[in-house]
Amino acid sequence: MSQRLKILNIVGARPNLPKIAPLMREMQLHPEIDPILVHTGQHYDEKLSDIFFRQMGIPAPHVNLEVGSGSHASQTAEILKRIEPVLLERKPDLVLVVGDVNSTIAVSLAAVKLGIRVAHVEAGLRSFDRTMPEEINRILTDALADYLFVTEEDAIGHLLKEGRPREAIHFVGNVMIDSLRHFLPVAQESAIGDELGLKNGAGWRPFGVLTLHRPSNVDSTEKLSQLLGAIDAVAAEMPVIFPVHPRTQQILTRGGITHHPQLRLIAPVGYLDFLCLLSKASLVLTDSGGIQEETTALGVPCLTLRENTERPITISEGTNLLVGTDPAKIVAAAHATLAGKGKAGRIPPLWDGHAAQRIVEILLRQVPRGKAS
Ligand code: UD1
Ligand code: UDP
Repeated sequence: MSQRLKILNIVGARPNLPKIAPLMREMQLHPEIDPILVHTGQHYDEKLSDIFFRQMGIPAPHVNLEVGSGSHASQTAEILKRIEPVLLERKPDLVLVVGDVNSTIAVSLAAVKLGIRVAHVEAGLRSFDRTMPEEINRILTDALADYLFVTEEDAIGHLLKEGRPREAIHFVGNVMIDSLRHFLPVAQESAIGDELGLKNGAGWRPFGVLTLHRPSNVDSTEKLSQLLGAIDAVAAEMPVIFPVHPRTQQILTRGGITHHPQLRLIAPVGYLDFLCLLSKASLVLTDSGGIQEETTALGVPCLTLRENTERPITISEGTNLLVGTDPAKIVAAAHATLAGKGKAGRIPPLWDGHAAQRIVEILLRQVPRGKAS
């Protein structure tokens, strides 16, 4: 019998989970694959990790490195140290990483130094803003990876410019949108609308959704206060639901920031509740990477409160508008969108729910087995 393909998959932070879920599901359909799941423990709160495993049916990780929080250097170093013995013991044919978080680069670096091949899912995205920690993670991970799976065609050009070989690059679509399509029907059953008083009989009242967690937006009280001041103008017209990321909560806990009573701060919500809210919202305001893509897939207007994006297709084809962080511009864009002048969009090529299938087919065909040192 030919040897099974041993793939060690990595998750660490919240956005990794909707990306790994369809890949694990697809790998489990193939008896010739031996999928292993390792959680670095970068995110550990129930609402940022466990709830996603339960709701999305992600198998429990074989190993949890339990690195927890820390500075960039210490968190990255801790992952490097703790993953190495796992790689030596498990001897995978391939390490698969997703996204652009510290876990992504740290594990990729440990793997290539041991001669293990790396696949990067969501390769080639570039904001061209090197002050973003994620941009550094993206560039370095793509420099190391042997298999580069891209979600949009611009990414191919970025990788080629950085000297990556054309044959290593595969345009496969978007695994996060695989999850969205798979779980949307279940998410529609969520009770979150009733719980938050957003339902009007069988229908929904108009409401907005806000998320903020980029260091450049939330690490200073002054900046966060300015942004919430702009959101107050939206909250004066309709409820705005704001599931607060722990990084943002730390600044809010220090005090000194006031907000409109209809801006409703709640704890982070699980994937199904959040997808339900996104799908029913009149307007989404965010600095998240993944949420720019999810709103485009749902056809819901999105205002991105950043000066740049690594996901330009959500602007050129989708419903996303890059508004920046100037409060006057945010208020003007929100009012225009609510007045029906939001961007119409279409679904980008290959965001069709089958990205994981394409990735697994390529890996099965191309990755050599049984050669890891
Ligand atoms: C990380 C990613 C970011 C991603 C985001 C998704 C990096 C460099 N950043 O940012 O790209 O968009 O996740 O949500 O990898 N904390 C908790 N509970 C947790 C996890 C974190 O309270 O379960 C707190 C800790 O105080 C920690 C802070 O949040 O210091 C930031 O966590 P960290 O993982 O360093 O970065 P994020 O801002 O979450
Ligand atoms: N998300 C969620 N609950 C929340 C906020 C976000 O389930 O309260 C989901 C969201 O739908 C997307 C992912 O988390 O699938 C995005 O993660 P995040 O915004 O933290 O990270 P980024 O994409 O910016 O790296």
